[in-house]
Amino acid sequence: MKIVTVIGARPQFIKAAAVSRAIANHDIEEIIVHTGQHYDKNMSDIFFDELKIKKPTYNLGVSGTGHGEMTGDMLKGIEKLLLEERPDLILIFGDTNSTLAASIAGSKLHIPIAHVEAGLRSFNMNMPEEVNRILSDRVSKFLFCPTETAINNLNAEGFPFKNQFIVNVGDVMEDAALFYKSIAAENLDILKNNQLESGNFNLATIHRAENTDNPEKLRLMVDGLNEICKQKRVVVPLHPRTKKKLQEKNLKIDITIIEPVGYLDMINLIHHSYLVITDSGGLQKEAFFFNKFCITMREETEWVELVNGNYNILVGSDKNKMINAYALFSKREFRKKENYYGGGKASENIVEYILKQS
Ligand code: UD1
Ligand code: UDP
Repeated sequence: MKIVTVIGARPQFIKAAAVSRAIANHDIEEIIVHTGQHYDKNMSDIFFDELKIKKPTYNLGVSGTGHGEMTGDMLKGIEKLLLEERPDLILIFGDTNSTLAASIAGSKLHIPIAHVEAGLRSFNMNMPEEVNRILSDRVSKFLFCPTETAINNLNAEGFPFKNQFIVNVGDVMEDAALFYKSIAAENLDILKNNQLESGNFNLATIHRAENTDNPEKLRLMVDGLNEICKQKRVVVPLHPRTKKKLQEKNLKIDITIIEPVGYLDMINLIHHSYLVITDSGGLQKEAFFFNKFCITMREETEWVELVNGNYNILVGSDKNKMINAYALFSKREFRKKENYYGGGKASENIVEYILKQS
């Protein structure tokens, strides 16, 4: 069996690292395609090196343009290589423009698609990710859901359509967190180099378009983080998109901004933080994996079970809600009761399912 895996953005490298390790245990040829969407060393190469992901056979070098142009250029490049490679299956992850481009290219050529992280919904069609994931789900053959919520979302939309398979396999990011945790623990330089004391700093990230592209929202979020800083330091490995936006403004910044870090350093930052404040999808779950509360700077989340379980509070860009959530979590002890994400077997479940059905 021959699989073409299409990835391009940071979280996809981490997810693919987990699934590719499972693929390597079987008699499957995997060809990695990097669309080029993320390209800085610490947004791309570092993940391939640290997580030992196979070098991409193709790098399409598409990045930094608007949604239509980016997706269109990727689509063109992916179609061309699919015609040469003629794989039995295309593997896609999540909800980025790289995901959508691969979905369109694959479906037009009638090549079966396996979508990892299918069925997630924010119910906010203004998010580019929501559009990408809905369209990708519709044309995929295998919809590998990470949670029961995702299964329910699909059923509510009338899935499965003809020749589709929907299955809750668990979350591949949990596989990654569990696998790389002990490897990460071997090198704690990220804490030492930034004078971070375990349990005595908060970890924050901001990158989502709806936050960074709205100057007022961004200002309020930075204000909120500055305020939390008065109680405990806030460390922010800053996405280049947000860095550019902050540079254009003249904001008072008390938080500690560092360059984006590799996954192993990130695991150490999460593990040793006091709590996590973010608008990232992946980080909300990683906070849970490492027993940290999470304050989410969004109006809605795809990971609703964390909110319902009181591990996560949605605060949007409301500074007061942020401060109140921080105060609330400061009084609570983190006690994990549920296992929402399958316990680290998602990647193997995916590969076994594909082999069984093919
Ligand atoms: C993309 C995904 C988002 C995901 C995020 C993960 C889409 C629509 N969005 O958002 O779902 O959560 O990746 O991080 O696909 N940039 C650099 N260097 C890089 C990468 C990006 O400077 O290595 C800058 C460029 O100015 C670029 C901007 O960041 O234009 C935005 O990058 P892009 O890939 O379009 O979107 P993300 O915000 O990263
Ligand atoms: N991440 C990382 N280094 C960083 C910031 C994030 O390795 O400097 C990891 C993070 O731990 C998670 C993934 O990148 O595994 C999440 O990616 P991101 O927040 O960019 O995207 P999202 O999950 O929101 O799509």
